[in-house]
Amino acid sequence: MSGSTNAHLFDSQGRRITYLRLSVTDRCQFRCVYCLPPEGIASLPKSDYLTPEQMERLVRALAEMGVWRLRLTGGEPLLRRDIVSLVARFSSIPRIRDLALTTNGERLPELAADLKAAGLMRVNVSLDSLDPARFRELTLSGSFERVREGIFRALEAGLKVKVNVVAMRGISEAEIDDFVELAYAHPLEVRFIEFMPLCGGGWSREASLPIAGLRSRAAERRRLIRIPRNGEVAESYALAGGKGRVGFIASMTEPFCSTCSRIRVGATGKVRLCLFSKLEYDLKPALAAGADTAELQREIRRAVSRKPASHPWAAVSKKHPRPEESGLIRSVGG
Ligand code: 5AD
Ligand code: SF4
Repeated sequence: MSGSTNAHLFDSQGRRITYLRLSVTDRCQFRCVYCLPPEGIASLPKSDYLTPEQMERLVRALAEMGVWRLRLTGGEPLLRRDIVSLVARFSSIPRIRDLALTTNGERLPELAADLKAAGLMRVNVSLDSLDPARFRELTLSGSFERVREGIFRALEAGLKVKVNVVAMRGISEAEIDDFVELAYAHPLEVRFIEFMPLCGGGWSREASLPIAGLRSRAAERRRLIRIPRNGEVAESYALAGGKGRVGFIASMTEPFCSTCSRIRVGATGKVRLCLFSKLEYDLKPALAAGADTAELQREIRRAVSRKPASHPWAAVSKKHPRPEESGLIRSVGG
């Protein structure tokens, strides 16, 4: 393939890539048990990070190939002092029609309004417990009150808000009702995510909790009205009579690898093709050498062609009965 091309970006399985998750820092002030060991991990030197200008060139090259969703991640993206100007930079790219950010929420109280003004559309806030003491245990430092305030500031600022809850056995079951009530009372979506065995550690089969049980528990609490899935990884439900929604991401028991449309790029420019794969493809040399759009796109296509078909657990989890088959959903309406 030669020359700059607007042709869409496909991997070797024929999946079209439309969604970029771009990490803008590897640093974080929390130590969530499932993400980091208590002592933390060595940080990458900031001098290795892509510059904002390099990030923009990368996003523009991808946008020309049909990537239209961009999510800024970390570490904790709001730790960057220039986060508002970064958001403004990306929101000025017309082909990026969905601009979101995943955060631990701690700095949202101060930043929500400025982020919205800079063009941010949505935030996902990680919040695994509504109990302040439990929250502190899970994050080893976080302030529940600040995160809570951050969520409400974000809503007031006009941002769409999702609350990410990692489902952990022995922790989440007791809190599901409170989370459902949070979504009932406020116009936000609470999303339960299956605990995944990633490098952060803490995962064990015993600690993992299949989504199906949480979904039926939520359905006992409030009547769930199914929302068409539309390629989303979460299966979402409105709550009859309520303001918000609940969503369920069954990455392990009901993998969605076959419709995966995403790639990740780390803060130093390394493409990760799957959350579960160590395979990395470094785009920094090309960016640093001032590669033009066509060259950059060739590099990206080369990387994307190596995207794994599915994660290593997908084959195993297919053996689990799907919740519909096991009759776990009882009062799901809609
Ligand atoms: N399993 C499931 N979710 C995880 N997250 C981080 N590590 C894991 C894991 N091992 C979640 C965070 C955050 C989102 C980016 O991913 O809670 O909300
Ligand atoms: Fe920080 Fe998010 Fe990891 Fe928690 S999950 S330690 S908030 S990066």
